[in-house]
Amino acid sequence: MSRRPNAARRFGESGSIPFVGAFHSKSHPSPLLTIGLFVVGALLIVGYLYHGSGGRSGDIGALNRLDGGVSCTQEVQRLIPYLKKAYGDSMRKVLHVGPETCSIVSQLLKEEDTEAWGVEPYELDDADSNCKSLVHKGVVRVADIKFPLPYRPKSFSLVIVSDALDYLSPKYLNKTVPELVRVSSDGLVILSGYPGQQRAKVAELSKFGRPAKLRSSSWWIRFFIQTSLEENEPVIKKFEQATSKKSLSSACQVFHIKPLH
Ligand SMILES: *[C@@H]1O[C@H](CO)[C@@H](O)[C@H](O)[C@H]1NC(C)=O
Repeated sequence: MSRRPNAARRFGESGSIPFVGAFHSKSHPSPLLTIGLFVVGALLIVGYLYHGSGGRSGDIGALNRLDGGVSCTQEVQRLIPYLKKAYGDSMRKVLHVGPETCSIVSQLLKEEDTEAWGVEPYELDDADSNCKSLVHKGVVRVADIKFPLPYRPKSFSLVIVSDALDYLSPKYLNKTVPELVRVSSDGLVILSGYPGQQRAKVAELSKFGRPAKLRSSSWWIRFFIQTSLEENEPVIKKFEQATSKKSLSSACQVFHIKPLH
């Protein structure tokens, strides 16, 4: 399905062999020189791939470190008061989509005048009793977000997605992000990691199926333009005002997308 696992190896082969070959035919370098050139070439390719993870292409394999690290779902918990300031009444009926959604839904349900639902995109293996009860009541659903969401258009005032999109390829993002916008009446909030951040424990890999792909903000902005989604400028201003008063810097990128008309 994905070309990711072999990307680095294929780059190495196709990139270096013709180069070394051309060199050979003109002069006769020592084997040491050839090896040296090969090593330099390999380092350049690794450097290129590493940069690529934050750069232009969504296809080039990211060399993410697999170890502890940032969770944007935890970041949502921290940002809820500021999202309330920015969205006001639009926080009345919230859908959260992402790993560990039970924690967000539980927190939102404690807020006054807020109804909350959750979509857990991966299996819930270690759900506590509170989470099991939310699933039992149908408040939290386990659903693969690569497929259409089981909700009518504008079912929620606000949709918040954290972490989950970082595990999808552009092909699925093309469908999933507009789906998230479809089910919201007032907007979509996307929380996504910064390129180079530590993310996804090794144990989580089997759950997510692939390592997180942390994309740069310029990548996301181009993606929004390509998929005809617009950022919500008035909300961005309010959110920035609210967070800057507390000089709160987010560990995750936060995007505010307008609803469909
Ligand atoms: C996603 O959609 C955009 C705009 O429709 C298109 O240009 C792009 O090729 C699509 N990407 C993939 C991977 O399907």
